[in-house]
Amino acid sequence: MSINNISYDPYEARLDDFAASVMKQKTVDFGYPLNQKSKLVGFYKWIAGSGINLSTLDNAGDPFDIHEKVPNTLEYEREVIEYFGPLYGFNEDEVWGIVTFSGTDGNNHGLYFGSKYLEKKTKKKPVLYVSDSAHYSSRRLADLQNLDMVLIPSDVHGSMDPAEFEKALKPDRPALVVYAMGTTFKGGIDDQDALNAVLSRHPEIEVYRHIDAALFGGYIPHTKYSDILNRKLHPFDSIAISGHKYFGMDEPAGIFLTTKEILNNQNPFDVSYLNRNMPMINCSRSALSPLKLWWIIRHTSREEFEKQTEEMLENAAWLCEELNKTGCQAWLEHASNTVYFKRPPEEITEKYDLAPDHDDRLGGDLSHIVVMQHVTRERLSRFLEDLRKCMN
Ligand SMILES: Cc1ncc(COP(=O)(O)O)c(C=O)c1O
Repeated sequence: MSINNISYDPYEARLDDFAASVMKQKTVDFGYPLNQKSKLVGFYKWIAGSGINLSTLDNAGDPFDIHEKVPNTLEYEREVIEYFGPLYGFNEDEVWGIVTFSGTDGNNHGLYFGSKYLEKKTKKKPVLYVSDSAHYSSRRLADLQNLDMVLIPSDVHGSMDPAEFEKALKPDRPALVVYAMGTTFKGGIDDQDALNAVLSRHPEIEVYRHIDAALFGGYIPHTKYSDILNRKLHPFDSIAISGHKYFGMDEPAGIFLTTKEILNNQNPFDVSYLNRNMPMINCSRSALSPLKLWWIIRHTSREEFEKQTEEMLENAAWLCEELNKTGCQAWLEHASNTVYFKRPPEEITEKYDLAPDHDDRLGGDLSHIVVMQHVTRERLSRFLEDLRKCMN
């Protein structure tokens, strides 16, 4: 069919309905750490006119050692990594990294690089230590990578308990430790100073620290808490951050950062058909994700990131206070944008897509709101009104 010489795609009507429902839902999308304020409108205009959407691009290869001939955006990927490196205390000449498919993919690289590094250095398999409040991806990946894992109990704030960590440490094996910097449900932050103090009492143990900062890693560098993720002040070997959480990528993506020293002490995988060593886990990798992230950081000033973050954290503190005033007990951890509270009636959890959790120490069932950029004061006020109506 053709209308004014424009061909009409019969499938578009269905897609239009789908798009309308997505647009409606995003205004009440409070329960998951996705930034629904995409900055990619200009990117899509550019790409449609550029012609590169008519070819296949693939970032198979190392963005810091570009040999590839297939069309790729490795050059932009490298710029993304070089932009982020200094925000977490990496020196420009030491940082290495990739744009990943997700936070989980970044954690996969962290655990893999960490275990291979420790094995090479000590000739022993490490033990993975991770808290029971950390995201499940570390546990799943331990299973996948056949790592021995010890799950360390966390305290009521969602942070790894240092005394439990010390009890669990195996003195004759290297330690691969995941520090969760912003746990998924409570937004708890592992206390690096306390955990590092434990490790320093066991100098015989070789240590690799990987930080899972899927959400908080995006915004913490733009706050007064930036020291928390500065590896010059709190040493770590690698860090994984999601791109679709704080940064508002419109599909899953992330970044994985480590050092060239770690990179150079991996299992070498010489891949003759690509003419070189391939350090990353995946062969083909997205070329569009790095370009989108590059677009976002080039079109967002540091001041803008600071302003967005300040608003998120102020709104989170305000929400926590208002919930408590309303008689709904609520908590907010240090440097967190994630307010957790006694689980409200189902009509509220359904409408606002609030994820469930349970902690007997806090009286049972819980929900949380992740105060992202689109979760404005106005929308939170409407949520509080709905909640008050239900509670009366
Ligand atoms: C703390 C934490 N780590 C890792 C992940 C997994 O990240 P992704 O969904 O990007 O794979 C999440 C997801 O919510 C998370 O909250």
